[in-house]
Amino acid sequence: MKEQVYQKYDAPQVTETMLQDAAILFSENYGVWDEQATVKIGSPVRLSKDRLRSQYLPDNATCFYVKVTVDGQLAGNAFACRWTVNDKTVCWVTQLVVDRNYRERGLAKGLLNQLKQNDVDIYGLMSSHPAACLAAAKAFGDSISTLQLGPIGKYAEEIMKASPIDYVKGAKLRGSVFNPGDTSGLVSSADSAFFVDHNEPLEALARVREEMDWPLGELVDGHEFLLILEARRRSRFRSTSRPESSS
Ligand SMILES: CC(C)(COP(=O)(O)OP(=O)(O)OC[C@H]1O[C@@H](n2cnc3c(N)ncnc32)[C@H](O)[C@@H]1OP(=O)(O)O)[C@@H](O)C(=O)NCCC(=O)NCCS
Repeated sequence: MKEQVYQKYDAPQVTETMLQDAAILFSENYGVWDEQATVKIGSPVRLSKDRLRSQYLPDNATCFYVKVTVDGQLAGNAFACRWTVNDKTVCWVTQLVVDRNYRERGLAKGLLNQLKQNDVDIYGLMSSHPAACLAAAKAFGDSISTLQLGPIGKYAEEIMKASPIDYVKGAKLRGSVFNPGDTSGLVSSADSAFFVDHNEPLEALARVREEMDWPLGELVDGHEFLLILEARRRSRFRSTSRPESSS
């Protein structure tokens, strides 16, 4: 890979051509439907540019689009949305896709890094792909192995209910984080009734589990992992203490 260029746009700056390219990237690289979906099993999950605009950049919300090109080719992109709940500013990653030819080179992490803003209090993501969660944990926090589940249980419901993005608002919270009596193996999940085939994410999950204790539990059909992270804040005050004298 030679030249990687990341560009971030506010929703009104996103052109029809950019959305057309994003629709092609998604339709060719996101995944395929599984047997419980109402469309043909194994056919690619597709999105048109008009649906991208209406579902991921709705007029009633503050949304962003980030893309990365490698040597001039669109290699990945992300959509995100911001809203406020009880004085807390939320930034939610609503879509993340990297072209199959450019995966495992840090592009997802790089895209999410572009979404970081100093005034954001909480970042969120629903995804069936463990790599998306790993990338988000590194970009917005520390790493998935130091993830605190407490904020997920504390904030998920109020944040998601207030979301201007329909599929986030409509998702049902599942797992032991939300119901300590849940013995299904789910820890932090959302039932989004999104029946994308899970073979690829499950293979990734098996690989990840060889290296670490995966904190978000099992992945079941129609569900996605749910990740919520409190923003790490840099101290607003610089230390005024002087270095100690060596004499
Ligand atoms: C999920 C996806 C965006 C990741 O993109 P990517 O550019 O390959 O991710 P990165 O290279 O930034 O990798 C992030 C982390 O995941 C790991 N990872 C990536 N792919 C992996 C895989 N298949 N198996 C195991 N780990 C994987 C990387 O090693 C990295 O971990 P590290 O930070 O500990 O080194 C990409 O696989 C994709 O587009 N998948 C299909 C669409 C999808 O499921 N999107 C998420 C829905 S929101």
